[in-house]
Amino acid sequence: MKKNINLTLKVWRQAGNREKGRLEIYSVKNISTDMSFLEMLDVLNEELTQAGKEPIAFDHDCREGICGMCGAVVNGRPHGPERGTTLCQLHMRHFSDGDELVIEPWRSRAFPVIKDLVVDRGSLDQIIIAGGYISVNTGSAPEANSVPVPQDAADRAMDAAACIGCGACVAACPNGSAMLFTAAKVSHLALLPQGKPEAARRAMRMVEKMDQLGFGNCSNITECQIE
Ligand code: SF4
Ligand code: FES
Repeated sequence: MKKNINLTLKVWRQAGNREKGRLEIYSVKNISTDMSFLEMLDVLNEELTQAGKEPIAFDHDCREGICGMCGAVVNGRPHGPERGTTLCQLHMRHFSDGDELVIEPWRSRAFPVIKDLVVDRGSLDQIIIAGGYISVNTGSAPEANSVPVPQDAADRAMDAAACIGCGACVAACPNGSAMLFTAAKVSHLALLPQGKPEAARRAMRMVEKMDQLGFGNCSNITECQIE
């Protein structure tokens, strides 16, 4: 496989929430296939900065696939073409020399664009604030065997808790629904004994908040699970 590739990027540029956005075309050359997608954007931003131009704004933090900060739609796919892979963990070896990539921010009424590829995902925080917690002081960690938890319940709760709150499911959904995110947060608490007493009230409040914030309804298209 060729180690270095050249690409044409069409990147969404938008100076602010009230500004009109547009796709701008950039050529990036000599990109190592060992780079991550964000490192490829770093290279482009370095070139833009050296040419006195405005670098592309994009969100990132851990660059390890665990924090949920990064994300963009690449050729119509949130986080790009690899399943279960965040944009920071997507490597350029998955692209070919001469590829054309269209890079856009998450598109959802509930995620207003702040700048370029950066969107405001505070609406996901609002869903958590509406009920995604246990409202008692649980004190310090108890002895692990004092509350029996069936292995199956622990496994399913852990799966749900693996949601990093990136918002890709919302971007993937034609309805712009946050149902996968909300369901993950509802489930990881409701499956465990400590979360059960408030389970119904928690789910009602979080779904109500999700509706208020402008997310769409889930109609079981399951696009969110494919990404
Ligand atoms: S459920 Fe949604 S927000 Fe959570 S990790 Fe998956 S795509 Fe990201
Ligand atoms: S930067 Fe943390 S998940 Fe991508």
